[in-house]
Amino acid sequence: MNLNKENILSQLEQIIHPEFEKNIVELGMIENISISDNEISFYFLTKKQKDPFATLIKKKCERLLTETFSSVKINIMEQKQQQNTAKHEQSQINYVLQNVKKIVAIMSGKGGVGKSTISVNLAVSLANKGFKTGLVDADIYGPSVPKMFGIQNTQPMMVKVENFELIEPVERYNVKIMSIGFFINHDDALIWRAPMATSALRQLAGGTYWGELDFLLIDLPPGTSDIHITMTQELKLDGTVVVTTPQPVAIADAIKGINMFRQEKINIPIFGLVENMSWFTPKELPENRYYIFGMDGGKNLAAEMQIPFLAQIPIVQSIRQGGDDGIPIIFTNDIHAKVFDELTDNFLKQIK
Ligand SMILES: Nc1ncnc2c1ncn2[C@@H]1O[C@H](COP(=O)(O)OP(=O)(O)O)[C@@H](O)[C@H]1O
Ligand SMILES: [Mg+2]
Repeated sequence: MNLNKENILSQLEQIIHPEFEKNIVELGMIENISISDNEISFYFLTKKQKDPFATLIKKKCERLLTETFSSVKINIMEQKQQQNTAKHEQSQINYVLQNVKKIVAIMSGKGGVGKSTISVNLAVSLANKGFKTGLVDADIYGPSVPKMFGIQNTQPMMVKVENFELIEPVERYNVKIMSIGFFINHDDALIWRAPMATSALRQLAGGTYWGELDFLLIDLPPGTSDIHITMTQELKLDGTVVVTTPQPVAIADAIKGINMFRQEKINIPIFGLVENMSWFTPKELPENRYYIFGMDGGKNLAAEMQIPFLAQIPIVQSIRQGGDDGIPIIFTNDIHAKVFDELTDNFLKQIK
């Protein structure tokens, strides 16, 4: 066999890392191969600070290469993962998300349509039904999840796991919660620029010690920006849920959001659409419906764009109150809790 880079790589591809169960070339552990005067040298990048298999694998590399290309010297320069921040960060994201089954982003084009209200109640409802659930409040422009859970004065703890510095999520109503709101004060958020916002979000979802989860919901900032695209690609979203009111301006923005996720290079499934603030029902006239923002705007949109329709949620005082008091309505026995329960069942039907 000729001594060239291609042949060296094809040889090294036969070596499987016992822990990751992939070959070491595919894992990106081999870099900068150079050949000179019958000497092969390359960098050997370990995936973590202490890789118990490193010595074994290096020995295998040496043996295989000297056997294949007889009388050649092998020079392996080991580099620990820590020296490479970006790779370290990516392996941290992979580590904390390795036991998370589904990652679902809740999005809306327009702000104030009830994205956080839906995220919080869906999360608590999934937890009530026995699913291990986490929620990331990624709305850097208005993190409201801590307030909706009544935990706005909580400071999460740091933990060191393996080689990673991770944040311990705050648990409430059986939901593991992480919010940018734990770390910044409200006024700062407004002036954040996209690159900062993106790295903050990466830290939130990818720097939290989630453990085992059936669902990780992400309450995204409103709109369709670079942040959304980066987020969705780095975290490998399984799908999204769209929230809109029936009002034409909200619908127009929702369409932009749907089209963003449906772009060829993003192509993330839309599990469903929720129409919030569908009608107003006063407490003293529970049979009456006032269509303040128009009628069926979200329902019709879902039909037109072939998106599963999950629920119509009325405007009622108890939903607003639940948010302000830190007791999500789904957790109470208010009659309007039922609609969130149905929403969750419809959502689950789309996930299978
Ligand atoms: N169906 C509803 N009925 C009553 N109030 C609602 C309803 N949905 C949302 N709200 C209230 O409207 C405000 C905005 O909702 P929020 O969930 O924070 O929206 P977003 O996250 O999209 O900005 C909050 O004060 C919330 O309590
Ligand atoms: Mg919000």
